[in-house]
Amino acid sequence: MERDITKRLLHWYRKEGRDLPWRRTSDPYAIWVSEIMLQQTQVATVIPYYEKFMATFPTTADLAHAPLGTVLKVWEGLGYYARARNLQKAARIISGQYNGEMPDDIETLTSLHGIGRSTAGAIISIAYGKKAPILDGNVRRVLCRLFAIRQNPSLAPVQKKLWNISERLVPEKNPRCFNQALMDLGAMICAPKNPDCTACCLRSLCLAYSKGLQKTLPVKSPGRKVPHYHIAAGVIWRGGKILITQRPAEGLLGGLWEFPGGKLKEGENPIQAAAREILEELNVTASVGDLISTVRHAYSHFHITLHAFHCRYVKGPLKTTHPYRWVSPEELSHYAFPSANRKIITVLKKGDLTPISFLL
Ligand code: ADE
Repeated sequence: MERDITKRLLHWYRKEGRDLPWRRTSDPYAIWVSEIMLQQTQVATVIPYYEKFMATFPTTADLAHAPLGTVLKVWEGLGYYARARNLQKAARIISGQYNGEMPDDIETLTSLHGIGRSTAGAIISIAYGKKAPILDGNVRRVLCRLFAIRQNPSLAPVQKKLWNISERLVPEKNPRCFNQALMDLGAMICAPKNPDCTACCLRSLCLAYSKGLQKTLPVKSPGRKVPHYHIAAGVIWRGGKILITQRPAEGLLGGLWEFPGGKLKEGENPIQAAAREILEELNVTASVGDLISTVRHAYSHFHITLHAFHCRYVKGPLKTTHPYRWVSPEELSHYAFPSANRKIITVLKKGDLTPISFLL
């Protein structure tokens, strides 16, 4: 059966495989960048980011020597910013310890920041043409269906079984096309909700299809309820400039800039929360004025509603542990902001950027 699967997939890929920018190169650095971007993000979203990233940082050395702020700016909007920070940390190691050359073995690759076993397998097979299994979300779904695996694939023993299957399937000859074929089948045919089984080259071999389980598998982990937070933030004006602060380097949205603010406390309204957060975080008294916008944003493990207000600096020597800058509205575009803040900036730019009352 394995041989048959491999043969059919390679045949299908030759005709139907996607023509993607990172498939037009054999540069291991470019393939690594694409694999990191594709870890949590769909192909269509990745393409323009990949193009811009490669134009800005064409080599490992370019990435290694760039300021982190520049890397984050190019990554802005793609999300999961730890990926960008890790990419750069690993680029610095590759430049410093490996003579600028991307390692070509699983062990060294997985020792680098942000590279797990599946990403390492993808790099080794796609960039170097060496046999190595992969198991990303798409591949996991394909294999669970193909072999009618009814256990939860997040469980360690089930993962082990899936890795073994992927290892058995990947051929010595042409592992590059085989792994990409598995990815493409998962993305284009064996889709999460509505698999297009009539178009699938593996249909007659698929155990889930033969049992009518293709929409049931893989079984999902019991969903946890996603918390929803309300956040208030202030666009604090002083003499035509706006205050922005930088988030700590590690952790959620690490290294990105934002308008100061924080979570609403029990019983507080957004205006009160904005004034309190500004005082607590910055030691500054600000008057909270007009609402600029209320925007929602979904993160992987929680959702937020951000209420952003025009604020005016009133008094207090600014004291904060965070790096901060007073910037003109035009200068905002030089900094990387989280998406919810960026939505606020878009509204700001559409309106009158400096309401006259805030210049006083
Ligand atoms: N997802 C992860 N890696 C991919 C690749 N190389 N091509 C398409 N989708 C992918």
